[in-house]
Amino acid sequence: MARDSFKSRLGILAAAAGSAIGLGNIWRFPHITGTNGGGAFLIVYLVCIVLIGLPIMISEFIIGRSTKKNAIGAFRELAPKTPWSIIGWMGLLCAVVILSFYGVVAGWCMHYVSNSITNSFAGKSVTELSNMFTSLISSNWLPIIWQLLFMAITGYIVAAGIKNGIEKYSKILMPLMFLLIIILDIRALTLDNAMEGINFLFKPKFNELTLDAVFLALGHAFFTLSLGMGTMLTYGSYINDGENLKSTAVNVSIADTVIALLAGIAIFPAVFSYGIKPDTGAGLAFISLPLVFEQMPFGNIFGILFFSLLAVAALTSSISILEVIVAYFTEEFNMSRTKVTVFSTLFVSIIGILCSLSNGILKEYTIFGMTFMNFMEYLSANILLPLGGLLICLFVGYYMDKKIIKDQLRNKGSISSISSTFLVIFLLLVKFISPIAILIVFLKGINLI
Ligand code: PHE
Repeated sequence: MARDSFKSRLGILAAAAGSAIGLGNIWRFPHITGTNGGGAFLIVYLVCIVLIGLPIMISEFIIGRSTKKNAIGAFRELAPKTPWSIIGWMGLLCAVVILSFYGVVAGWCMHYVSNSITNSFAGKSVTELSNMFTSLISSNWLPIIWQLLFMAITGYIVAAGIKNGIEKYSKILMPLMFLLIIILDIRALTLDNAMEGINFLFKPKFNELTLDAVFLALGHAFFTLSLGMGTMLTYGSYINDGENLKSTAVNVSIADTVIALLAGIAIFPAVFSYGIKPDTGAGLAFISLPLVFEQMPFGNIFGILFFSLLAVAALTSSISILEVIVAYFTEEFNMSRTKVTVFSTLFVSIIGILCSLSNGILKEYTIFGMTFMNFMEYLSANILLPLGGLLICLFVGYYMDKKIIKDQLRNKGSISSISSTFLVIFLLLVKFISPIAILIVFLKGINLI
């Protein structure tokens, strides 16, 4: 049977941008930018995207498309009988780790859509909203039901395949996501005092730009572009030979950055306009914003839109994560896609249930002082993704046949415009600049420096 692949250029972009744009953009990026130097952080972040993110995305695409294999099979083909396939194994592990907690947070978003529909924020104080959030995440069954529903939808799309599942739904969900964010942006920008929020987000505050903030920017660049665990490699393996990998990577990175900025523009003006202190992390989306929505005219409608936006963004990312696992088992063991999808969804969901319970009854069981869910986040963002990214750079920079790299970038000669300067810069980045920068973040991330 012929290997499934993406059908159209738009489909590739929708799927890859869908993977990149996720919870990382809409809730993590705005608050870390706002609290780590605003515009100053933004400059560092953009430098990280261009100098580290882009070369790694191109590298993953090259590895995937040149082999047309899953994350482990690709390294086995390019580097047989060597330990390089460990990159693929780490990717598989990371997919399980990220998806387990991602499903839980996406479940919270879905519950908040239903809270907005039933107008449950109305008349509540900050303390009450905060209790409402804490009681949801620590409850034994409610967040798990939502998480399982979210995972079931993820599995349903992945089981349908690349063309008829991932590509088809990404092409519907991405424009929907864009529409939702634009509506929320217009609403936020037309509120009184909107400029105060814009200033909070964009005004460069160089005094807040600590060394930690620089490391945070680099780590976030990985997470937000879905790099370092074989997601873009796997999607790359479904890209047809005629497509230009370099411009695909550039377009995906631009889309990801634009959506992150639009998310910040939707959130901060609203928060400031209602005189609310911008909370951090989960609190910003699940406590500060409900407080805004309950005061805003037709606020529950905007609540429905915002939490749907989060859920949709999470969905197009979670399908890309599940695909890493499903591609490996279907290809290497010749198993049916539906069967593999059902089993992997169940497996990841069980680990996800443990994540969810670690906010409640399993709170006491900690790993290195972290709850299970926090540990899963830490393990992926601070260890597995940077380590995977570092190894991918080294693989492409030092091991891989340069002819394959050239062929992939030039589509075997049909793109003549790829200059030797680009190749030199690309190799310089993957050989030296990116590995050194990643190594620093990695050592910092695990507190070794
Ligand atoms: N890029 C996604 C986000 O920003 C998360 C993700 C990480 C998806 C790694 C796939 C792989 O939320």
